[in-house]
Amino acid sequence: MFITFEGGEGSGKSTVIKEIAKRISEAGREVVLTREPGGTPIGEEIRNVILEKANTSMDPRTEALLYAASRRQHVVEKIIPALREGKVVISDRFLDSSLAYQGMGRGLGMAEIYQLNLFATEGLEPDLTIYLSLDPEAGIERIEANPNREINRLDLEKMSFHELVHEGFEKLAKENPYRFVKVDASNRVEQVIESCWDAVEKRLRWR
Ligand code: TYD
Repeated sequence: MFITFEGGEGSGKSTVIKEIAKRISEAGREVVLTREPGGTPIGEEIRNVILEKANTSMDPRTEALLYAASRRQHVVEKIIPALREGKVVISDRFLDSSLAYQGMGRGLGMAEIYQLNLFATEGLEPDLTIYLSLDPEAGIERIEANPNREINRLDLEKMSFHELVHEGFEKLAKENPYRFVKVDASNRVEQVIESCWDAVEKRLRWR
C-alpha cells in the first residue's frame, strides 16, 4: 500500500506523518517512511540543489525536471522494492506536489507536468493521498512562528504563489475523490491526526 501526504507550507504534515507511521507499525505492518524531493542518496543531492536559497536563477522547467528526476530515483530505488516486499510506503509529498507547485504555482500547466512525470513514475500512483488543507496565509504564519523551521527557496515565494499552489491541490482533491482524502489542517493537531488515521485505517482494513 502506497500512501502519500500532500499540502501547502505549514500544514503540519511532518508531525502527522510520524504519528500515522507509528500507528501503522503498531497495527503490525512494516512501514517505510520517506519524502520528496529526496528519499534516496541521489534524490537528497538533487533536493539540495532545488531547495538551496542561493539558487534564485533556477528556471521553472529546470525545477520541474529536477523534482521529476528525484522522483524517478525514489520510485525505482525505494518505493517499488518496498511495495514488492509487502511494506506500507508513506511518502511526505509525491507527484501531486509537482502538479500543484510547478503546474499551478509556476504556471507550467498541470497536464504538462503530469505528462513529464509519467516518464518518471511509469504510471505508479498512490493508493491513498491525504491532503492537509490549510489557508496559505495561515500556513506561512505558522512557519514564521516556528523558530526551528528551516526556510527553503520555495517558502520564500510570494503569497500569490502559495495561493495558486493551494488552488492546485484543491482542484486535484476534487478531481480525484477516490484517491484523495481532504483533511482540514486548521484544526488542532490531535484532531488532524485522528481524521488522517480514520482514512488510513479504513483502507488498511480492506487489504
Ligand atoms: P520541505 O522542506 O520538504 O517542505 P515541506 O515541509 O513543506 O514538505 O521542502 C519541499 C519543498 O518542495 C516544498 O516547498 C514543496 C516543494 N515541492 C515542489 O515544489 N514540487 C514537488 O514535486 C515536491 C515533491 C516538492
